[in-house]
Amino acid sequence: MLQIRSDDGVVVALARDTLLRDLAASCGATERWRAAGFVPALEGGPANRNIVGFHDGLSIPRTAADVDEAVWLDGVDTGTGTVAGPAGATTMVVRQMPVDTAAFTALAVERQNEIVGRDRDTGAPLSGGVALDDPDIGAKDETGQVLIPLDAHVRRAHPCPRASTPSCCGAATRSPTRASTGSCSSPSSVTWIRSSGPSSGSTRAMP
Ligand code: HEM
Repeated sequence: MLQIRSDDGVVVALARDTLLRDLAASCGATERWRAAGFVPALEGGPANRNIVGFHDGLSIPRTAADVDEAVWLDGVDTGTGTVAGPAGATTMVVRQMPVDTAAFTALAVERQNEIVGRDRDTGAPLSGGVALDDPDIGAKDETGQVLIPLDAHVRRAHPCPRASTPSCCGAATRSPTRASTGSCSSPSSVTWIRSSGPSSGSTRAMP
C-alpha cells in the first residue's frame, strides 16, 4: 500500500504518478484502488477535528512502546488471537462510510456529545477529566446513571463496553491494543497496487 501525504494536493498528484511509474517499471506493480482524503491542520489543541467537528485522534498509540505493541507485528503467533505475520510488517483496515454531517451538526451540541461520548469543545470524555484521559466506561452520576451513554461511540469502540466494572480488560487505562482498533482520521491519499497479472490493473472500487 502506498500512502502519499502532503499539505499541497499538486505534490500528492505528482508524487503518486512518479511512484506508480517507477513501481511499474521496477517490479510490474499496477494500481488497484485509490482513495483521496484530507485531515484538517492541527492548530493547537489535543488533536485535529474531524468532519463532524469533534477532536479525533485522541485515543491513539503515542509512545514508541505503544506503537511497537499496537502497530508492528513481531512475527510470533502467541495463540492468543494476535495476528501472526512477518516481523516488522503491519496490517491496516480501510473502511469507507457515508456521514450525514448536515443531520449531525443540526443536533443540539449536548446530543452530539452523547452520541460521541466526549465533549465537542474540549474533547474530554463525558466521564470527566481532560481530552487525553481515557473514557471511564463505568463512571456514574449520583443517581446511578452512566455518564457515558450506553450507545455512545467511545463506549461501543471500547473492548469492554459494559457499564459494570470493566474487569474483563483491566482498569480503564489507555491501551495501545484498544487504540489500534480504530483511528478515524483519513489519510491524504491511499493507493493500492498489485503486481501486474492477467487483469487490467486499472483503478476500481475497493474489493
Ligand atoms: C463516521 C465514522 C466515524 C466518526 C465520525 C468517528 C468519530 C470519532 C470521534 C470523534 C472519536 C473521539 C476522539 C478520539 O478518541 O480520538 C472517536 C473515537 C474512537 N473511534 Fe471513531 N469514528 C468513526 C468511525 C469509527 C470506526 C469505524 C471505528 C472502528 C472500527 C472507530 C473506532 C474508534 C475508537 C477505538 C475510538 C477511541 C475511543 C476512546 O476514546 O476511547 N471509529 N471516533
